[in-house]
Amino acid sequence: MADRFRILTLNNISTKGLERLPRERYEVASDIGRPDAVLLRSADMHKMTLPETVRAVARAGAGTNNVPVAALAKKGIPVFNTPGANANAVKELVLAGILLAARNIAPAWLFARGLTGDDAAIDVAVEKGKKNYVGFELPGKTLGIIGLGAIGVAVANSAEALGMSVLGYDPAITVQRAWQLSSSVQQALSLDDLFSRCDIVTVHVPLNEHTKGLVNAARLKLMRPGGVILNFARSGTVDDAAVLAALDAGHLHGYVNDFPKNGLKDHPKVVTLPHLGASTNEAEENCAVMAADQLRDFLENGNIRNSVNFPEAVLARVPGATRLAIANSNVPNMVGQISTSLAGAGINIADLLNKSRGEVAYTLIDVDGNVDATICERIRAIEGVLSARIV
Ligand SMILES: NC(=O)c1ccc[n+]([C@@H]2O[C@H](COP(=O)([O-])OP(=O)(O)OC[C@H]3O[C@@H](n4cnc5c(N)ncnc54)[C@H](O)[C@@H]3O)[C@@H](O)[C@H]2O)c1
Repeated sequence: MADRFRILTLNNISTKGLERLPRERYEVASDIGRPDAVLLRSADMHKMTLPETVRAVARAGAGTNNVPVAALAKKGIPVFNTPGANANAVKELVLAGILLAARNIAPAWLFARGLTGDDAAIDVAVEKGKKNYVGFELPGKTLGIIGLGAIGVAVANSAEALGMSVLGYDPAITVQRAWQLSSSVQQALSLDDLFSRCDIVTVHVPLNEHTKGLVNAARLKLMRPGGVILNFARSGTVDDAAVLAALDAGHLHGYVNDFPKNGLKDHPKVVTLPHLGASTNEAEENCAVMAADQLRDFLENGNIRNSVNFPEAVLARVPGATRLAIANSNVPNMVGQISTSLAGAGINIADLLNKSRGEVAYTLIDVDGNVDATICERIRAIEGVLSARIV
């Protein structure tokens, strides 16, 4: 089986993911010579000497700090990641967080655990104590969602199913997410508009200079009394001190987040969880499956989905055609030179897709009939071409 693709794994990858790379077409191992691609989770690739044969790197996970993304782009090597693969895991914990706060589950549970005496004494204490934990129900309440990406959209749709009204704010929502979003989710005009119309606000944005402290004292004041804040995004997007002050002043009812800190973790109206958002077996499997599928589509069809350094490029194959996949610097006249080179070899183009992103461009060309590998050598000789292969 000489033509199998060779995949080097740098971490243990979930079996469900590896099953997407069938043995008749793929050889996958943690020590393999001349790999076509690298599949990893958190292994550090920065100091690794990359074998010359590698054409792609796939990371099962969202962040790519452990991969030299820019250096690989310069060599014409796309790096894939798996955005959204853990969205359901986070969504489920956010829903749990809403219910934790609405029904005062954490303090009520602490109370129940602290009950002493025989069962008759416990019954008496329960009837006396339960009035301190009266909660509220979700239908009729308005949930505000900041950031309608993979997680925000999943939370929005599920919250509606629980009977809540949902208000979203995301000035840069993608077309794909807009299609997934329930049509009855309303659009907030601004963050202030969102806070002033919501009972519960949950944050699902990345942490950057625009989102740091996005939930702050001034915006909390706009919320209806008895409100709840949730942060399962990143520590820093919410000004924790402002939330604690609003809780102590009795304006807010609760705060549920995934980032324990001193002052926060022991507060009676706060529930902090130890960064559990994506911690499910299924999320890990989803990441591995998505990484393997994207790698396979690239190796077998040249298609690029969810790359952090290459443009999205997906082209249906023309039946009977041979496909060329070419990465090049994003400079003028590359497609012209490539087409001229093909025409010079008497090769007819059946379909072509050219996409660019920053300094890199990527071209998929389906040409009529069979062509031999010398055409790739001719294309590689063009200045600015980073890689060229028959797929
Ligand atoms: N708790 C955890 O374990 C856990 C797990 C996964 C992800 N996360 C965090 O959740 C966040 C969201 O994840 P995702 O997969 O939905 O990401 P995503 O990239 O799919 O969505 C993020 C969305 O935020 C929007 N956005 C960015 N800046 C904004 C702003 N200033 N105002 C409003 N919207 C803004 C973007 O347009 C995008 O639609 C990530 O940043 C990640 O750090 C946490």
